[in-house]
Amino acid sequence: MLKDKIEALKAEIAGLKAASADEAEALRIKYLSKKGSVSLLFEDFKTVAPELKREMGQKLNELKTLAQNRIAELKASAAAAAQKEVEKTDVSRPGTPSPIGGRHPLSIVKNEIVEIFGRLGFTVAEGPEVEDDWHVFTALNFPPEHPARDMQDTFFINTNPDILLRTHTSSVQVREMERKRPPIRAVFPGRVFRNEAISARAHCIFHQVEGLYVAKNVSFADLKQVLLYFAKEMFGSDVEIRLRPSYFPFTEPSAEMDVSCTLCGGKGCGVCKGSGWLEILGCGMVDPAVLENNGIDPKEYSGYAFGMGVERIAMLRYGVDDIRNFFENDVRFLSQFQSAM
Ligand code: DAH
Repeated sequence: MLKDKIEALKAEIAGLKAASADEAEALRIKYLSKKGSVSLLFEDFKTVAPELKREMGQKLNELKTLAQNRIAELKASAAAAAQKEVEKTDVSRPGTPSPIGGRHPLSIVKNEIVEIFGRLGFTVAEGPEVEDDWHVFTALNFPPEHPARDMQDTFFINTNPDILLRTHTSSVQVREMERKRPPIRAVFPGRVFRNEAISARAHCIFHQVEGLYVAKNVSFADLKQVLLYFAKEMFGSDVEIRLRPSYFPFTEPSAEMDVSCTLCGGKGCGVCKGSGWLEILGCGMVDPAVLENNGIDPKEYSGYAFGMGVERIAMLRYGVDDIRNFFENDVRFLSQFQSAM
């Protein structure tokens, strides 16, 4: 019976609830759209006996009005609730900061080294960390079985002793001489590996920047001038340098360079162990045998090379007293370094 259907829908509509404007709109579609349950009753109405038409028509219209009002009410209260939510939000409150990372101090220092030499015309190149004996030792004039190889405790690949983790970025000198003809003027930053006990001063993984210049008439004076410029740019214009004779298989003559202590300015302190000097790199004139190993005629060309530890320079620059800090990724340490580069 139509009358029962109307009563049932009336009760249903009176109890409708909507948690949002979208839900209220879904109810409008369900009851009042063309195919909605209220609208469909108007189809039934067509079959109502003529003497009941008046009464049923009235009831149907009442039902429709009830549904329209109820749904309008639901929409209004959903909108009011949403407005209240918006008003609860304090739009003047500062946002929650999301921390952004920064450059690692080793990257900052490495970039700075590369940039200083870049101003002098040095390009940048890289080479593989997993290397062969030729590039790390043999081409650099380390004789087989010679104790010079013991200067560096090497990680070899067990199954193939010819393959190893490079112990210095000097190997990239060799790669560069293979792919370029003089003049060559480049720096090679990278990670190196040594089988060494980890302590405050040493780590089995660290970083170096190697430099190489090969051209006609390159002299030791050129090397000294470039290193002096580097030291002053890196540590400040007051810094002094000192070259001490040393030995490396791939340079002749070889030297180690000290800078005047960055902490005490040369007077002598705990950091420089009273000497006033800090060792920061190795260098020398490229041994003619190394040029020859790479197909460069030592009668026509000469060159210099140098190599420095990035951690060592970063420790001096920032006053870091334990190398392990660089590898532990403790944000409390890392967040202290700011860089423009
Ligand atoms: N490769 C040396 C090391 O790891 C550093 C070095 C010394 C590099 C002298 C050079 C050099 O290019 O000429 O200790």
